[in-house]
Amino acid sequence: VVPTTKTRTPRRVLVVANRLPIRARRDARTARWTFDTAPGGLATALRGIATDVEFVWVGWLGADVPPAERPRVAERLMREHGCYPVFLDAQLVDRYYNGFCNDVLWPLFHYVPLPAYQAGAEKKFDARLWEAYKEANARFADAVLEVWSAGPPTENDSTATSKVPDYVWVHDYHLMRLPLELRRRDARVSVAWFLHTPFPSSEIYRILPYRRELLEGLLHADLVGFHTYDYARHFLSACSRVLDVSTTTPKGIEFGGRFCSIGVFPIGIDPTLIRNTLKSRAVRRRTAELGATFKGRKVLIGVDRLDYIKGMPHKLLAFELFLARNPSWVGKVTLIQVGVPTRTDVAEYQALAKHVNELVGRINGVYGTLEYSPIHYINQSIPQDELIAIYHLADACLVTSVRDGMNLVSHEYVAAQESLDQDDTGIEETRPRSRASSSKDDDDVLQPFVKEGPGALVLSEFAGSAQSLSGAIRVNPWNTDELARAIHDALTLTRVERELRWAKLHRYVSTNTASYWARSFVDEFRDVCEHPPLLPKL
Ligand code: G6P
Repeated sequence: VVPTTKTRTPRRVLVVANRLPIRARRDARTARWTFDTAPGGLATALRGIATDVEFVWVGWLGADVPPAERPRVAERLMREHGCYPVFLDAQLVDRYYNGFCNDVLWPLFHYVPLPAYQAGAEKKFDARLWEAYKEANARFADAVLEVWSAGPPTENDSTATSKVPDYVWVHDYHLMRLPLELRRRDARVSVAWFLHTPFPSSEIYRILPYRRELLEGLLHADLVGFHTYDYARHFLSACSRVLDVSTTTPKGIEFGGRFCSIGVFPIGIDPTLIRNTLKSRAVRRRTAELGATFKGRKVLIGVDRLDYIKGMPHKLLAFELFLARNPSWVGKVTLIQVGVPTRTDVAEYQALAKHVNELVGRINGVYGTLEYSPIHYINQSIPQDELIAIYHLADACLVTSVRDGMNLVSHEYVAAQESLDQDDTGIEETRPRSRASSSKDDDDVLQPFVKEGPGALVLSEFAGSAQSLSGAIRVNPWNTDELARAIHDALTLTRVERELRWAKLHRYVSTNTASYWARSFVDEFRDVCEHPPLLPKL
């Protein structure tokens, strides 16, 4: 069944996220700012419904803007990009973003609890981090109210810019106090919140010193949404245990005389974008080049932010074990692992980067030769075209997250396994461009890459996407032995088995898309605002 839903809202939606989809650079000599669009996952997900809904972004620019330059920067961002910036000073960013968000909430929500004892751990318990989190949320609320329109201008309020009130759609764990902060400023505001990470079991959640204040912040929303039923269920039990509220209906929670609806909205990708990229001349050519480079070898692909939740060491250890147990595969399989640097100011991320370097060095040192490296480690982000070419080429994709809200790499890999129409290879008369891309010598004509059936997906059961991608080989990444065997299985499945699995995966990925996610959320948001549940009169 193809999910269909139509967004009927004529309202503007203010998308509030910690980060704006903008890369900002300042020329130190001329003090001139350049802004490029840098669409992250959220911006890409919203693109599909941008023709039906007008979005205005509110968020942090990810750069320190001197106070004197702020009005001008804000004016340009709004005019050129439809983005309204929230300015935060460096110390606030350090305590709110590096500290409370990335050093306290992020690990806890991914089942890495606060340490019982560990040298240096006391900084995680520093109350100033929490104060900064509240302060940052309050700044976001001020900024939202500066762009929010309450509806048609009235006698008392001539600031409105649109005919109907704006919706405010808040994203992620950075902004859990925002619904409350908004409501304090204007009780009329329609606000929803969506969590892109897991919501942990209440037994983990209740460790958090500020567990009550965060839930109270959220319950001022009209709607809160999660990727999976499990996360919604965990949220309900956290509310019931921490706030002692009744959660007899799974549809939502009554709190403080209001009703907060709860919904499940699994995010997806834009498969058409991947298909079109795959068909492009540049990507076909690149796939052919890479096909020549890796001729005679199987390719495994891993693409992760360099984050401890992604289980990169688990993957490398299992690959090492696989090579140790299967010497006949040494020289015949390469793991291309992309590790995109992230949150490099946080100590755990620095330690992880070092550990991954050591593991890659060790495995390549033991199993590599002059002609062969078992692992190609790319410690930087790579262009979309290059990524799609590698996905298409790869015989299997390894997603080994120890926890992950959803994980869209698994979806992207599935979408990029589509076979290409061989009538138009897009690479006629092309020749290898570099020695690296040539299997023999530079006079060889580049052969189009022909995929022998779709590749296999090895997927951690701890990624949200594992709940829907039943065609994947599901693994527990902590079980190195099981993961090593899954790598072997992925490389040796018959073509028929791969096709059967892929058909299931593809059906899900191509129907539960990013646009479907965004439409369903906005539609539900509108419904709960237009038809709020009746609460019993006290
Ligand atoms: C996760 C979070 C996002 C965040 C992204 C990148 O996907 O859910 O909210 O933007 O990681 O992390 P960063 O800290 O660089 O924004």
